[in-house]
Amino acid sequence: MDLNGKIAIVTGASSGMGRETSLLLAKNGVKVALVSTTGSKLKKVEDEIKQAGGEAISIPTDVTSADQVQKMVAKVIDTYGKVDILVNSAFWGPPGSLEETDEAFWDRTIDTCLKGPFLCIRTVVPFMRENGGGRIVNIGSLAGKNGEDNRTAYNAAKFGLEGLSAALREEVTRDNIHVHLVSPAATDTPWWRTTDAKLTPEVLERFVPSETIAQAIVWVISQPDQVHIPDVPVYNFRNPFEGKSSPFSE
Ligand SMILES: NC(=O)c1ccc[n+]([C@@H]2O[C@H](COP(=O)([O-])OP(=O)(O)OC[C@H]3O[C@@H](n4cnc5c(N)ncnc54)[C@H](OP(=O)(O)O)[C@@H]3O)[C@@H](O)[C@H]2O)c1
Repeated sequence: MDLNGKIAIVTGASSGMGRETSLLLAKNGVKVALVSTTGSKLKKVEDEIKQAGGEAISIPTDVTSADQVQKMVAKVIDTYGKVDILVNSAFWGPPGSLEETDEAFWDRTIDTCLKGPFLCIRTVVPFMRENGGGRIVNIGSLAGKNGEDNRTAYNAAKFGLEGLSAALREEVTRDNIHVHLVSPAATDTPWWRTTDAKLTPEVLERFVPSETIAQAIVWVISQPDQVHIPDVPVYNFRNPFEGKSSPFSE
């Protein structure tokens, strides 16, 4: 697919992989609707894109709210007339033991990481169908493939996103809509600084750069329509957390 002139919605666009993906899409001529809850953070990304000669619009939205997602997509249609690409990167999911995972913690993790993508997909797909096709990229995780210590809710959400992606493919391939699941290992984003993980220079050196995930996304959606690449796992070449399956292991 030639990306120039396409319209994308990127959730979680104010930080980490969502931000990098937005910048790279814009560099490739894509007009980007930037979505997260914090307007001021989105505006910085929007300004960065515009200063580089690209096109973007900030639409502060909580992806866990069906009503807000509806209004966000309506705004994109009003502004650009269509949606070609949806990237689901919005994320809330601190580590937590079973005891720490109370109902509110569970709900917020599942709502942001699983219900959010579902709401965005359900709202966007009719417009993609109308437009003759599209590309949906769900950012999964290796935590959607393997269990990790102290990550019950997050693991559940990411395994769920794998299931959602698989079922969605059955339903929308006939409409020329590709569903890609990009599943990173530990990637250097601001999120890690909000955790207790010990980020030594040696650990950081082994992380996947967030630019690499943006490149993987742009690469996968640029492939010809007859090529189907459902799953893009991206591993650390060397385990940053030597001897542990998770940095949050006791
Ligand atoms: N970092 C890693 O090592 C890693 C590894 C594997 C997979 N992943 C996955 O990669 C994706 C991106 O992670 P990241 O590390 O780049 O995250 P991040 O830097 O923490 O960014 C998270 C983004 O989500 C937005 N957000 C949070 N709650 C939201 C809500 N309710 N509605 C809309 N936006 C919301 C945040 O912006 P606001 O605060 O403005 O809302 C922010 O833009 C996630 O799906 C994550 O699960 C990350």
